[in-house]
Amino acid sequence: MITFNTILKLPLIALVASCTASKTNTVADTTSPSNKVVSLKEVFKKDFGIGTAMNTPQIEERDPKVNALIKEQFNMVTPENIMKAEELHPQWDVYNFALADKLVEYGKKNNIKINAHTLIWHSQLPAFARRIQDVDSFKTFFRNHINTVASRYEGKVFSWDVVNEALNEDGTMRKSVFLSKMGDDFVTEAFRLAQKASPTAELYYNDYNNEQPKKRAGCIALVKKVQDAGVRIDGVGIQGHWHVGKVPFKEIEESILQYSALGLKVMFTELDIEVLPRNFSGADVNQRMKEDPSLNPYVNGLPDSIQQQLASDYEQLFKLFLKHKDKVTRVTFWGVHDGQSWLNGWPVRGRTNYPLLFDRQLQPKPAFYSVIGLKQAKK
Ligand code: XIL
Repeated sequence: MITFNTILKLPLIALVASCTASKTNTVADTTSPSNKVVSLKEVFKKDFGIGTAMNTPQIEERDPKVNALIKEQFNMVTPENIMKAEELHPQWDVYNFALADKLVEYGKKNNIKINAHTLIWHSQLPAFARRIQDVDSFKTFFRNHINTVASRYEGKVFSWDVVNEALNEDGTMRKSVFLSKMGDDFVTEAFRLAQKASPTAELYYNDYNNEQPKKRAGCIALVKKVQDAGVRIDGVGIQGHWHVGKVPFKEIEESILQYSALGLKVMFTELDIEVLPRNFSGADVNQRMKEDPSLNPYVNGLPDSIQQQLASDYEQLFKLFLKHKDKVTRVTFWGVHDGQSWLNGWPVRGRTNYPLLFDRQLQPKPAFYSVIGLKQAKK
């Protein structure tokens, strides 16, 4: 049977033949030459970095196949959870650096840059920090956290998501514990402290839906405030948690242009395109929906038409990234393969989602080939 998958793979045989000479290992089934794949990081080497999020088992290199896939495909990594305050700094004077140190070693050994995520975020905050009532004590926590963590990894990580998700959808400041204790200067203050503690790391503001006009305007105002205070901010991360068939291409392009006009690098930092139903957009991790079988329609596989739409969405997206490769410095997927994506558990528990370029068997999906095909067409 000729599937969409097979059709997409056909023209790649020539590309693969020319690209595999320098490759030492392949992740796809090597028994069939046409199944060999090229690596994203190689294909986009001259354009932008290609990243993935890594979870704990991956950082511990527990599964050799996943481990090989990561090293083969990606040159930048963001820790999915282990550098969030809740994990790194569980109590006032207790820090758990073991896994983050391991990740740094992993990066060094494999020539992979680390984007550390994240210093200041209202979610996944340690319980003790939430309980602090006194404003001065809260400010001390804020300062200690940034100083201790950012200085420990100075010279060891490439960049920091200094502040994550400080904005509401309408562009106003989110009513977080940081806002209520410190006022809206907390963002500038976070960058000031990070810059001091880690002078060589690139420093970013990161958010979801900040490609949408109102939130983008808020994001621009926030960046300008940091810049006007004479504090360094190097880039803006657009998380990129989008939905199949609804990727906001126009706003994404407009955002690349507007953010880069501020002198900022633009990154897509948590890219995934989900295919399952939900009744809201964005990626507020505290927003959830009740489990219901109707919300999990593709347990036995993704219909071809959706697979095709997903491949086309990814293709359009990467076309846009390539068009603005002088402004876009990194594209990071939020996970390595569909089987471990956070979207299987959020916003509804226990679903079977298909948001990434590699499937549950670690095989490249049609979307992978459509993205790679963009470069092939240029040759
Ligand atoms: C998610 C992780 O993927 C999950 O494992 C965790 O349970 C919740 O957080 N925006 C962010 C990321 O900046 O840190 C979030 O990661 C996804 C949304």
